[in-house]
Amino acid sequence: MSAVLEVDGLTRRFGGLVAVDGLGFSVASGEIVGLVGPNGAGKSTVLNVLSGVVRPDAGSIAFLGKSIIGRAPDRIARLGVARTFQPARSFASLTCHDSVLTSLAFGRKRLWGRVARDEADRLLDRVGLGRALDSLPGQLAYIDHKRLELARALALQPELLLLDEWLAGFNPAELEGGIGLIRSLGEQGIAVLLVEHVLETIQALCHRCLVMNTGRLIASGLPAEVLAEPEVVRAYLGEEGDA
Ligand SMILES: Nc1ncnc2c1ncn2[C@@H]1O[C@H](COP(=O)(O)OP(=O)(O)OP(=O)(O)O)[C@@H](O)[C@H]1O
Ligand SMILES: [Mg+2]
Repeated sequence: MSAVLEVDGLTRRFGGLVAVDGLGFSVASGEIVGLVGPNGAGKSTVLNVLSGVVRPDAGSIAFLGKSIIGRAPDRIARLGVARTFQPARSFASLTCHDSVLTSLAFGRKRLWGRVARDEADRLLDRVGLGRALDSLPGQLAYIDHKRLELARALALQPELLLLDEWLAGFNPAELEGGIGLIRSLGEQGIAVLLVEHVLETIQALCHRCLVMNTGRLIASGLPAEVLAEPEVVRAYLGEEGDA
């Protein structure tokens, strides 16, 4: 598997707080990597830096072998890095279908017209929103809002997908469907970096997992092994084991 994302020495401070502290890792094509850690560990900040929403203070980020540091979020998205937010965000006045059409128009392949409409149908169906094409975000249940956000991210035709607690709040049946969906994205060759608190989900879904605490990477490797390491148990399970 070739590296889609390579991160080295990544650091971001907020005043005196080091939210991300010298982080280094990589994600390969088709690989699903979990990013876990207690609240405030710096997970969302990592995704914000990777997607260009927040600038790093130090370190390097190579996407498909090229640095993306300093590029605007829309440029990074067009290069092939898509993301969802915590919590989900969508255009309030656009129907689900139009919202996905917008992403298709500004994505890597810039699809328009009939081709785009068919692709929007397909994507909404894939995320389980086929019945809500004409709904506005305000009419959607919480879970469907998240589905829409994922459809919009996929409409950018990403090589790397960043998911920030996308599976949070799913009931067991929805979770099973969501895990299957993310797994299929990996099988299709998309590299996925996902932040998730529920450790069973990490174990079921991820090829590898990275554990952060107070901005630092404290462990990485196979989920079953990493999540059993004493430092991880202390830092993460101690506070989040009931999550
Ligand atoms: N824009 C910001 N300005 C100031 N401090 C920030 C900002 N964004 C994040 N922080 C701080 O950086 C630290 C890491 O926050 P971050 O949101 O990345 O954690 P997280 O691991 O995603 O936590 P959670 O599991 O609660 O979502 C926290 O102490 C947070 O308060
Ligand atoms: Mg977060």
